[in-house]
Amino acid sequence: LVQVRELFRNKEQYLGKKITVGGWVRSVRDTKTFGFIVMSDGTFFETLQIVYTDKLSNFAEISKFNVGSAVVVTGTLVATPDAKQPFEIQAEEVLLEGASTSDYPLQKKRHSLEFLRAMTHLRPRTNTFQAVFRVRSLVAYAIHKFFQERDFVYVHTPLITGSDCEGAGEMFQVTTLDLNNIPKTKEGQVDFDQDFFNKPTNLTVSGQLNGETYAMAFKNIYTFGPTFRAENSNTTRHAAEFWMIEPEIAFADLKDDMILAESMLKYVIKYVLEHAPEEMEFFNSFVDQGLLERLQHVANSDFGHVTYTEAIEILEKNNDKFEYKVSWGCDLQTEHERFLTEQIFKKPVFVTDYPKEIKAFYMKLNEDNKTVAAMDLLVPGIGEIIGGSQREDDYDKLVAKMKESDLNEEDYDFYLDLRKYGSARHAGFGLGFERCVMYLTGMGNIRDVIPFPRTVNNCDL
Ligand code: 4AD
Ligand code: MG
Repeated sequence: LVQVRELFRNKEQYLGKKITVGGWVRSVRDTKTFGFIVMSDGTFFETLQIVYTDKLSNFAEISKFNVGSAVVVTGTLVATPDAKQPFEIQAEEVLLEGASTSDYPLQKKRHSLEFLRAMTHLRPRTNTFQAVFRVRSLVAYAIHKFFQERDFVYVHTPLITGSDCEGAGEMFQVTTLDLNNIPKTKEGQVDFDQDFFNKPTNLTVSGQLNGETYAMAFKNIYTFGPTFRAENSNTTRHAAEFWMIEPEIAFADLKDDMILAESMLKYVIKYVLEHAPEEMEFFNSFVDQGLLERLQHVANSDFGHVTYTEAIEILEKNNDKFEYKVSWGCDLQTEHERFLTEQIFKKPVFVTDYPKEIKAFYMKLNEDNKTVAAMDLLVPGIGEIIGGSQREDDYDKLVAKMKESDLNEEDYDFYLDLRKYGSARHAGFGLGFERCVMYLTGMGNIRDVIPFPRTVNNCDL
């Protein structure tokens, strides 16, 4: 079988030749003596038109094929200079590989994203999700390519862990204990000695702490894997299971970290524009007008920079516009993030040096003793897409911070060792993979860029 992608990319090689393609029927139209099948084989964004005539012995049956049926077609590829499509197949044989029943839910009309969300297993057969998930796949590849070209080592960090990197307590617990009959100690506590790992464990919220240990051995590393957060936020940008890319660089500070983040994002933008032009054109036409122009601009201009303190000054002047009023010390909500990046900077912007109280324990304390060397990258349409920081590399300051944060020092021995055995400046960040895909496609809901989304109250399929 020839892939439709191959036909579109190298059509000269195939024009006038007899070929066989397999795919799924999008529509069938017929007259008394001939008909058209529009089919998609999934390898390319464009559909392929098949012309068949009553010379075929199964002419009558073909005209009754239901939408969704799997077919195998053999015929000659001919150019169609006057049509929208560059070519079509003149069929010599149309075989039904697998019929579809007439209640196939994806008929030839535009279905809403909500409607398709209820059909996680079928929606990848639609144009929108063909585009989304091919781009998602390409973005993953581009990210690996970016880091590999720069000699970063890809580290596989564990998914089951005993630590809570972000300290937000939003973990999914992992246990083999019988929830209907939980063993208790004499003191009435859960007896974790009887649990699989002999201690409480959870799904990881971030691979960073493990990543740091490898950065202290390989200098430049990155992780790319699933992370889990039991955040009770039912929004369009939060998922319970999402993928994160977390580079960690040694002998580097917050500035180096931001340079890395900016060049990575620009690289990925350029990569998808170059390698998925048809899909990106589709998003630009049907999902987010202006997407291409915006991305091209972002890829070729500098990101903005503002400190948290400056950002608060800007936001305070606009407090009348916000549901949550801001003042120094508060965490930024999506509405504030979007205001900064959409109304003030009108491009991606790094917000740096947040108050230490609202950030994680591992961030490096600034000289003012009030803020930490943190950065969030905010982008129009989404808000925070990256969160990162320079790490506290001073043993005593880190211990003090852990005490303040009520962390059990013994659980973090390995982490403290890094500050004992040749501590070095280091920094890193986490890119939310799904938010990145949303940004690149203009899709507005995180549920529509994850093949099988897990969100509050939803773990279907
Ligand atoms: O800002 P966060 O919490 O940072 C960390 O986890 C650090 N350990 C990263 C590091 O420095 N190595 O998360 C990083 C990014 C966010 O900016 C966001 O894009 C994404 O992960 N993210 C989510 N994406 C989807 N659903 C959620 N519930 C998310 N929570 C965070
Ligand atoms: Mg964050």
